[in-house]
Amino acid sequence: MAIAFAAIATTLAAATPFQTPVSYEAADARAGALLAQMTTAEKLQLISGYNSFYIHGLPRLGIPDLYLSDATQGVHLRKNLSQQLDKSVAFPCPLSLAATWNPGLAYRYAHSIGEECRAGNVAVLLGPGMDIYRVSQCGRNFEYFGEDPFLAARMIEQYVRGVLDTGTIPTLKHFVANDTDYFRRKSDSVVDERTLHEISLPAFKAGIDAGAMAVMTSYNQLNGEWCGQNPYVITGLLRGSLGYKWLVMTDWTSVWDAKKIIESGQDLEMPGKKFIAADAQRLLDEGKVKIADIDRMARDIMRTCIAMGLYDRPVKDVHYLANFPAHVQCALDSAREGIVLLKNNGVLPLAKQGGGKILVSGLFVDQLARGGGSADVEGYDALTLRQALTATYGDRVTFVAEPTDAELKAASAVLLSTGTFDSEGRDRPFALPEAEEKRVQRIVSLNPRTVVIVNSGGGIQMTHWNDRAAAIVYAWFPGQIGNRALAEVLCGDTNPSGKLPITIERRFEDAPGYGYIPAGEQLYTTRLQLEAEMAHPLFHIAYKEGVFVGYRWYEKKGIAPLYAFGTGLSYTTFDYKDLRLSAQAMTQAGQLDVHCTLSNTGRVAGAEIVQVYVHPVHAPIERPEKELKGFAKVTLAPGESRDVTVTLAPRDFAYWDVGRHDWTVAPGEYEILVGRASDHIALHAAVTMR
Ligand code: GLC
Repeated sequence: MAIAFAAIATTLAAATPFQTPVSYEAADARAGALLAQMTTAEKLQLISGYNSFYIHGLPRLGIPDLYLSDATQGVHLRKNLSQQLDKSVAFPCPLSLAATWNPGLAYRYAHSIGEECRAGNVAVLLGPGMDIYRVSQCGRNFEYFGEDPFLAARMIEQYVRGVLDTGTIPTLKHFVANDTDYFRRKSDSVVDERTLHEISLPAFKAGIDAGAMAVMTSYNQLNGEWCGQNPYVITGLLRGSLGYKWLVMTDWTSVWDAKKIIESGQDLEMPGKKFIAADAQRLLDEGKVKIADIDRMARDIMRTCIAMGLYDRPVKDVHYLANFPAHVQCALDSAREGIVLLKNNGVLPLAKQGGGKILVSGLFVDQLARGGGSADVEGYDALTLRQALTATYGDRVTFVAEPTDAELKAASAVLLSTGTFDSEGRDRPFALPEAEEKRVQRIVSLNPRTVVIVNSGGGIQMTHWNDRAAAIVYAWFPGQIGNRALAEVLCGDTNPSGKLPITIERRFEDAPGYGYIPAGEQLYTTRLQLEAEMAHPLFHIAYKEGVFVGYRWYEKKGIAPLYAFGTGLSYTTFDYKDLRLSAQAMTQAGQLDVHCTLSNTGRVAGAEIVQVYVHPVHAPIERPEKELKGFAKVTLAPGESRDVTVTLAPRDFAYWDVGRHDWTVAPGEYEILVGRASDHIALHAAVTMR
């Protein structure tokens, strides 16, 4: 049923953008009327945040203070700022949600978080984050939706809709190309127009088309100017190309010049008390900025809040507290569907009964793997791996922090937990720390039935022990209940169905983003103070790979990754056959239905994610070998077959034409590729675009 829901939800979001409680026009008129009653000082107060996470109210005119809170994977509680919510559910990280390839689940996940916002008096959720997985080392990859713009876009449009439907404003972030966190305030992303439109922008565009009403600009510069005060970024790309018409806010302490902020299209300087507060009045007095720009900023903020009804009703609605158990269930379902089985020589599933002792060791046996920074969610009643495995296997499992060779050899199987500690504000190495790498290599070499469980917010180097591991399970940052899902997968109660939303390279040197760290520098391991960060010289990150990010890169370069985008095994097997296209030729006004028959040829029920890629045969410009343009998640009983249909539109064949500054569909031959992973194409058929 979940699959059907997913299909329905996806259709809904695409066809009917969110209807704001108050129409844009009516909200704008009311905002204008309020503006006319405001003093300049009141306007300046409104366009600068206060108390770290609030939009200023104006009681004189019935405008309430509005609280903003992080973030994509749940409500980050800041009890020093708001005592309205005692707890919040810690969901699996967004990259884990992306690995479900289930947009309907993204809707449920986001709707749950939106309800917790309402219960906690949070008017604006500072999420979803959607920067692109360009380098595996980025400390914030866990907060985002992976390397492919199409997959990210399909998940984001549902996520945005889920939050909006609770009456909470979601925030698309970080706009734009904030794809590493290494000295993030001093990095300049140098990105060409085509790469922006084909890679960086589609998820934002999908969020905007679904109705998103807040966007947060990013820390980095784009092509030489900080995004938060960059007119090309805000007025040109966001409001111009993407047609965005609501609130824009800065990231926290990410802008540096009041005049530039005011004239860039920006609306709200967060956390406030900085450049607007210090300089705007003087600039007005000196005639260096126009009150019309201040009015525009204030009006954008008020129009957005009025349109969502935030001036007409309380944000807080405690009846949503009753839904927390349903939110925990959603977190469990998300973890179940997000776990990716990368390798299995048959050791999994490990039956609950029978068989000898299972030895468990490693990093995240007693501590929950979770990403740090503003996205972090404490959660409650968190289930450790030890608790989850004990509940599943009873006294079959023994937990040994430093197992001897003899203990490892004697075990019937070993469950080894490894991974990384990722966080906002810093990147981390692709390779595991030396001691951890040695430990993993030692253990997999001592017991041939070692299952390696990876908890990380992105790819890690596995090359030196991948072949000896009997199985590898990628469980990301699982959230408060995710270890139960992991135990279910290990024992076979849940059949894994997740697929990688990223490519996992063999060596970081193979990756398109390799070389982004300035020569002679090393990754720092603890989060920097602002002064230390700002003391770093501005450095430029040239997106030399252009649109060839992720699998697009490895296929262009002929580099075999360790695990390809879209990879994920099951405890059953699936067969693809009988690819049929609704037409052999299509026009630029038509659409193409791609049909195939999927069969579950194994002994247990399972879900498969059918992936549809488009390959241009004779492109007029250099294009990726293939690009994901459709997918369907289908659950089948053993022996069951189903006709699967994915519909493609002309835009799915387009590239960004910098000569026309628009999308272009080149006539000619294309191949439609269908398979279970980007490197496992089962079927293909030709189609002509007229
Ligand atoms: C942080 C993050 C942003 C977050 C904001 C408020 O530094 O970059 O994602 O929403 O500041 O915490």
